[in-house]
Amino acid sequence: MPYKTDRIKWCLSISLGLSAFIFLNSFRFANTSNLLEMQRSQTDSIDVKVDSILKIMTLEEKVGQMNQYNGFWDVTGPSPKDGNAAKKYEDIKSGRVGSMLTVRGVDQVREVQKLVVEESRLGIPLLIGFDVIHGYKTLSPIPLAEAASWDIEAIKKSAAVAASEAAASGINWTFAPMVDISRDPRWGRVMEGAGEDPYLGSKIARARVEGFQGKNLNAINTIAATAKHFAAYGFAEAGKEYNKADIGTVTLHNMVLPPFKAANQAGVSTFMTGFNEFNGIPVTGSEYLLRDLLKNKWGFQGFVISDWASIEEMVTHGYARDKADAANKAVKAGVDMDMESSSFVDELIGLIQAGAVREELIDDAVRRILKVKFLLGLFDDPYKYCDVERELQTIGCEENRKAVLDMAKKSIVLLKNENNLLPLKKQGQKIAVIGPLADDSNSVLGSWRIASEDSSGVSILEGLKQYTGNKLIFKKGADLITNKPTFINELEFNTTDKSGFEEALLAAKAADVVIMVLGEHGFQSGEGRSRTQLDLPGVQQELMEEVFKVNKNCILVLNNGRPLAIEWAAEHIPSIVEAWHLGTETGNAVAQVLYGDYNPSGKLPMTFPRNVGQIPIYYNHKNTGRPVDPQPGENMVFWSHYSDIKNAPLFPFGYGLSYTSFNYSNLNIEKESYAVNEEVQISVELINTGDYDGKEVVQLYIRDLFAKIVRPVRELKGFQLVELKKGESKIIKFSLTSEELGFYDQDGNFTVEPGEFEIFVGTDSNASLKTRFLLKE
Ligand code: BGC
Repeated sequence: MPYKTDRIKWCLSISLGLSAFIFLNSFRFANTSNLLEMQRSQTDSIDVKVDSILKIMTLEEKVGQMNQYNGFWDVTGPSPKDGNAAKKYEDIKSGRVGSMLTVRGVDQVREVQKLVVEESRLGIPLLIGFDVIHGYKTLSPIPLAEAASWDIEAIKKSAAVAASEAAASGINWTFAPMVDISRDPRWGRVMEGAGEDPYLGSKIARARVEGFQGKNLNAINTIAATAKHFAAYGFAEAGKEYNKADIGTVTLHNMVLPPFKAANQAGVSTFMTGFNEFNGIPVTGSEYLLRDLLKNKWGFQGFVISDWASIEEMVTHGYARDKADAANKAVKAGVDMDMESSSFVDELIGLIQAGAVREELIDDAVRRILKVKFLLGLFDDPYKYCDVERELQTIGCEENRKAVLDMAKKSIVLLKNENNLLPLKKQGQKIAVIGPLADDSNSVLGSWRIASEDSSGVSILEGLKQYTGNKLIFKKGADLITNKPTFINELEFNTTDKSGFEEALLAAKAADVVIMVLGEHGFQSGEGRSRTQLDLPGVQQELMEEVFKVNKNCILVLNNGRPLAIEWAAEHIPSIVEAWHLGTETGNAVAQVLYGDYNPSGKLPMTFPRNVGQIPIYYNHKNTGRPVDPQPGENMVFWSHYSDIKNAPLFPFGYGLSYTSFNYSNLNIEKESYAVNEEVQISVELINTGDYDGKEVVQLYIRDLFAKIVRPVRELKGFQLVELKKGESKIIKFSLTSEELGFYDQDGNFTVEPGEFEIFVGTDSNASLKTRFLLKE
């Protein structure tokens, strides 16, 4: 068999290269115990190994590394015999594939890995990519919900749990985190990100990368991460999926790019491009974004993968003449791996032979890809993620369920609690549970959960049943979806059937308290799920209003993947709990919060609008020139507003209540003026003034009053999650450096401008405690 001799060749080639490297470096490290140096030397030695392999690769093999296919046949079944599937199968065996996506489970991964390792000439192991977005099989809350926790350590842990399950199932690379900032809740993919703010988004991006990748990519329970979608996909015009992003460079540099930069600084292994166009150029073909900015200016060391077929889609955009032109533009722009469009594998060799593409570009791409394979340890053992025993022990284990339950509780946001209707009494109550989502163990899992079983979540009704002191009556009232909801089909939610109302109203009338579980189905958000309406779909609004007529003691538990416009509910319903789609343990988390065994502390990571017409609405907007007087006269019309609705959102960014109450006082700044390179020191006193122990996210916002470009009215620049026992108080300290006080100008240059700044500290983005200081030259 030819592969054996050739394998010996690359092994030999590596060891010769390595011996030379070790010899050369033995002097360099003789006197140093510097860890960073050692680490760098490790990567250096990988570079040597990579180069040795590159030397013996044919052009076809190199291009093969740049090709990724989706799992297109039953890997453990017979091999495909005809058509495209057979061609792809042959490609795998002949080393024309560097990575597969959506192959999962140890058996399948082992099979597909075996095909390459045993059949191809060099046997270079595959990267096995997968969308591990919020857990693998044991699901944590959707990423937007996790962001509502503002608990960076918990988010990191959640990513680590997801990585450990995925890695136990044969996967070594996730297409997460999605770090797209978005201000438009019509866009279905807001569920997958961290919301509207670049500061919070950057902290979460870093945490997720560190959670997935751990300290050592070579460890058995860590996987490579991907920062996606580079860039500006979250600004899809009108929130319409795959739409162009028409933003200026100030928004690009200050809003869109910071979380990507943070991911890069955290050492993310790969970047994924987007489907969108930015400034007239599909980002998959953007030399400015990928080559100039990411690879050159930021010094990104990993590799760039396209989004699904986004290379070939440049033809549909009208940016590439044909598939060859698309491949040409993508590789020149800086894409290293083609997801699923076969553009690279089919076209690159021809382009090189014709002199249109330089082989050095290919070498650079392959070097980057092989390096990630080395870092993951795949060259030491291609089957290192393929241990059936470990898979059995890890997937769905008790520890992981506990971790996702903890994350789920932390993600819940209490939006309203009039007359302390919550927490619920544990004994002697008659509780009516109403709504199409109350008994749904599938929807709670949320979108993007390819590996988990349908209906494997704990429904809210099931969770409530764990508390046995009260009498529960469940009446659905209405359906939400009329067809079978799946990840890929269009959902029909134009339900009109109200025949279930009557029995729901009877139950509500007879109850002490009503819990209504309403909102969006788990598959109503996510990719391809943009909406023009943000109210409660179907007949849910009517159901809620009817129930409220017969019983005012209503609690609304919302299930949703995006901010909803629920103005009527916010005005009438006394208690509202934002429970998103919280994953496997949803019901238990919600029940523990409703019964007060867990005091909620989540804060909204995205503004909730009053209606769709207010969108885009976000806290860090800019002032227009009007009103000049901040309190315009009653009948004055010529100022920036809508004439039919308030300017303020329904719930602002950073908003969320607790069962206890907090008081802020004594906002203090050490000095009135600071030099540019000094740290600005701020403190505030926080007191838990209520009847429960609780947690509060203390938020600090700044405003740069005057600058060479207009700055937002507020920008989050610090936050701390503080735990206080009832009656306890604490001084919370913040320090601001030029990193927080500066901004990017139109050309993307970071600037710190002297001048006056305001500081606001408080419980949400409307924080009213205020101070100011002067930043001097
Ligand atoms: C999505 C990506 C995802 C990829 C692979 C695309 O449709 O935009 O975010 O990683 O599919 O599943």
